Amino acid sequence: MRPAADAGRQTRRRCCGRVFSVTNTLSIDRARGPEFDLSTSFGRDDDVLVIGLVQGEKSDDSTGDPTLVIGDGILDDAAASAISDALSAVGATGSHGEVTKLPAPASLPVKTVIAVGLGGADDLDDADKLRQAAGIVARELDGFKAVITTLAATDLSAIAEGLFLGSYRFTSFRSDKTAPKKSPPQRFTLLVEQKRKEAKAELTHAVTVADAVAIARDFVNTPPSHLYPEAFADAAAELARKSGLSVEILDDTTLAREGYGGIVGVGKGSSRLPRLVRLTHAKKDTKSVGLVGKGITFDTGGISIKPAAGMDHMTSDMGGAAAVIATTILAARLDLDVNVTATVPMAENMPSGTAQRPGDVLTQYGGITVEVLNTDAEGRLILADAIVRAGQDNPDYIIDTATLTGAQMVALGTRTPGVMGTAEFRDRIAALSAEVGENAWAMPLPDELRDDLKSRVADLANVTNHRWGGMLSAAIFLREFVPESVQWAHVDIAGPAFNTGGPWGYTPKGGTGVPVRTLIRVLEDIAANG
Ligand code: BES
Ligand code: ZN
Ligand code: ZN
Repeated sequence: MRPAADAGRQTRRRCCGRVFSVTNTLSIDRARGPEFDLSTSFGRDDDVLVIGLVQGEKSDDSTGDPTLVIGDGILDDAAASAISDALSAVGATGSHGEVTKLPAPASLPVKTVIAVGLGGADDLDDADKLRQAAGIVARELDGFKAVITTLAATDLSAIAEGLFLGSYRFTSFRSDKTAPKKSPPQRFTLLVEQKRKEAKAELTHAVTVADAVAIARDFVNTPPSHLYPEAFADAAAELARKSGLSVEILDDTTLAREGYGGIVGVGKGSSRLPRLVRLTHAKKDTKSVGLVGKGITFDTGGISIKPAAGMDHMTSDMGGAAAVIATTILAARLDLDVNVTATVPMAENMPSGTAQRPGDVLTQYGGITVEVLNTDAEGRLILADAIVRAGQDNPDYIIDTATLTGAQMVALGTRTPGVMGTAEFRDRIAALSAEVGENAWAMPLPDELRDDLKSRVADLANVTNHRWGGMLSAAIFLREFVPESVQWAHVDIAGPAFNTGGPWGYTPKGGTGVPVRTLIRVLEDIAANG
């Protein structure tokens, strides 16, 4: 993404009786991530060998020596035992995520060996433990150009994803003053016993998926000064067209004319006008899935304004939209045998003289009226319009995802998405999400909360008058807009979409790209099993 350089074009717009300028271009041309290759031997310019170390078995009288994970015939015995001895000499244990750097033995054509701890022998069966270990070591590789590794002897996909995702950096908005001096590696070579066709396909799949996660991260990391509804819609459209998707953008006048009262209501406090983006990966005679993602490019809360502390976190309030756009592009790139249409509402939630008020009533797309008691519960208003629009396509499944409630983090913490919806589909998504290490957790929709969304004047209120089960009541609100016959799930990613703490595993600070890997796994499962 090269937004800083491309943000120059200005348009003039009239609002609130004043004339002012709005920057409105954002060109997306994501610098490619690192290249990945399979090889049975070292290459000429490899500069570091990354190797896995497993903890020894503990017994009564010893802690057991850690062992190298290499794969048969990949390293000669002399080099392997030299590395092993050097690791014991510096006290490496193989505990999960431990990184040990050594000068390479003279017989190897690289200067440096880096060992990463993979944990105990049982952990080798846990794909996400391997993905995390690969991510941890990838965060330590800046300055090396070409990495060669034996790690793929464990689980090729997990290792490739972890290395790719751990190498992600976002530097588009740094000038030379603070730009990092060292870059992450440009190439990873995975050492394998034989170059099998299946291994090549597995690698291509892993890298394509990881690249889509990076697209979602780029969108989330782009600040709201540069990523606002119009710019977001245009950048998504450009990227989607390049991957062969069909694209439709509804602008603010179309949204108003066609009755998208939720998107218009939330967007009307901002000089940056709302959009609805529709992307389609068309496949005939397959199951069809509607994806919906919350695209609030910044959430001040509106007139029900948020406290200043931590408000900057609300740059991530389009994390659901970013994930849905990246996943739909990924479905096209993988040519999945499932019809996918993304319906993505985009708006900026601002307080102003033109903003909606607490107590206003709006009419959602499709006719349901809503009393807006709290303008900070805006996500459900734009999603409701989009869910109704997605339903008009008669899909078999609808999945929406959103940074919807602070209550998600109260219930499940910052790393675990909540998934709610039609029981069977909800549980299927939770199981598939566990497989990819994103770990969405199934949550209930208790009947008694529905009554608390009754309004004094309209069909529904947008909030309850209490804070109990806030993640669940938001989902119960959304359920009102889902057609009866559709299997539906809602994934709340308020915490998981944006990492405000330190980097961990393959997750950097900032945008995480959650839940792209869950969504693509679900689409693949639907393509395979209906
Ligand atoms: N975007 C927020 C939810 C959020 C909070 C996301 C923290 C990420 C981190 C959402 O629009 C919001 O403000 N929700 C309110 C709902 C309440 C008014 C019922 C909330 O969670 O406080
Ligand atoms: Zn809000
Ligand atoms: Zn929000």
